[in-house]
Amino acid sequence: MSFGTNPEAAAEVTRAVKAVTTKPVIIKLSPNVTDIVSIAKACEEAGADGISLINTMLGMRINLRTRKPIIANKMGGFSGPAIFPVAVRMVYQVANAVSIPVVGMGGVSSAEDVIEMMLAGATAVEVGAANLVNPYVCRDIVRDLPRVMEKYGINNLKEIIGGAK
Ligand SMILES: Cc1cc2nc3c(=O)[nH]c(=O)nc-3n(C[C@H](O)[C@H](O)[C@H](O)COP(=O)(O)O)c2cc1C
Repeated sequence: MSFGTNPEAAAEVTRAVKAVTTKPVIIKLSPNVTDIVSIAKACEEAGADGISLINTMLGMRINLRTRKPIIANKMGGFSGPAIFPVAVRMVYQVANAVSIPVVGMGGVSSAEDVIEMMLAGATAVEVGAANLVNPYVCRDIVRDLPRVMEKYGINNLKEIIGGAK
């Protein structure tokens, strides 16, 4: 979040990393911003080969008995299904604003979620928190995808990328 909330800082980090590697550089963006598009575009202009988003949202919970924040740092990264709508919205906004590939993540936990992320514009999808609930979730998603694709009349996942208008 230190440099992910400002377009110039995000671009500077992108340029610095690009200068010392020949590998593809995919910049991961924080959702804790008001204008995700300006940050994604700054990274693209600075040479990023791809964008991945979203990282965790800043959250907080309070224990009713102790009246103290539940986590030691008081607030911290919030992930899982609750952030999925924010992730879909940001992937959609960024995918429509840049020409480099977008990796979508944030609350993905089913084959349906993968398809929704791809319709929003993701060319690849990541699964984070759901693995902590079900260590086999990625296997299950891969297993379920053909059935869910058939249900929605999808022959090839490539054809649905950015399909939501
Ligand atoms: C336990 C845990 C550790 C994480 N560590 C990192 C990390 O080191 N770097 C990072 O960029 N994102 C990290 N994340 C964020 C995830 O990569 C992902 O962007 C975010 O959690 C949203 O996706 P999800 O809801 O599928 O987890 C972490 C997430 C979790 C749940």
